[in-house]
Amino acid sequence: MRIVVADDYKAMSRIAADEIEELLLSEPQCVLGLATGSTPLGLYADLVSDFEQGKISFKDVTTFNLDEYCGLGDDNPQGYRYFMNANLFDKVDVKGASTHVPQGRAGDLEAECAKYDKMIEDAGGIDLQLLGLGHNGHIGFNEPCDEFPKGTHVVDLTMSTINANSRLFDSAEEVPRQAITMGIGTIMAARRVLVVASGKDKAAIVRKAFLGPVTPEVPASILQFHPDAMVVVDEEAASELV
Ligand code: GLP
Repeated sequence: MRIVVADDYKAMSRIAADEIEELLLSEPQCVLGLATGSTPLGLYADLVSDFEQGKISFKDVTTFNLDEYCGLGDDNPQGYRYFMNANLFDKVDVKGASTHVPQGRAGDLEAECAKYDKMIEDAGGIDLQLLGLGHNGHIGFNEPCDEFPKGTHVVDLTMSTINANSRLFDSAEEVPRQAITMGIGTIMAARRVLVVASGKDKAAIVRKAFLGPVTPEVPASILQFHPDAMVVVDEEAASELV
C-alpha cells in the first residue's frame, strides 16, 4: 500500500485525478469504480475541467458506483445516482448506459445485488476503484461487523453513518436506514484501488485503517492486503500517521 500525503485538499484531489487520468489515457475502455461523498468532489471537478480542455474522454469508459441508499430513486437529489449525474456524468462524454449505480428502489433488492455483481463480472471487472473513507472505517457502505462481506449486498446503516450523512438531508430521521453496497470482496477484486481522505476529522480513522490491525471492525483495513492500493490524504488527515 502506498500512502501519499498531499499538502491540502486541492493537491489531494489533483493527485487522485491524475491517477484516474493516466488510466483513461492508457486504457480508454477502462472500467472505473466510483464513489460519492464530499471527499471526491474536488477530483471530479478536476476531471470535468480536464475533459472540457480536451485532455481526457470518457466515451468508452464503463462505470460502477459503490453504493446507493435503499428507497431513493434516480431523481432524488439525496441519492447517489443524482450526485454522480450532477458532479460528473452529465458534465463529461460518458454514455449514460455505461454508467451504473445500484437501483435503490428495485422491487427485489437481493436480485438487484446479484445482478450488479454479474454486470461487473461481465464488464471484465473493475480496473480502478475509487474509495472515500467513513469515520468508522466504512468503505462503500460496508459497516464495521464481524466478517468481511463478499459481494454486493443490502446493509443496515449504523447510527454513526446516519448521523454523519444527515448533513445532506433535512434531518437524521430522513436518512434511509438501509443501503445497497458493493461488498469487500467486490472492492478487493478491483485491479487497483485509490482511497482519498481529507481533514482533521479523518486523521484517527486513517491511522487505524492503514496502520492498525486488519479487522472487519475497521472495514477499510483490509485494503492493506490489496496488491495495488494507493491512499492519498491531505496533511490534516495524515496528522496521526507517525
Ligand atoms: C458515505 C459513502 C461512502 C463515503 C463516505 C465518506 O457514507 N457511502 O462511500 O466514502 O460517506 O464520505 P465523505 O467523503 O463525505 O466523508
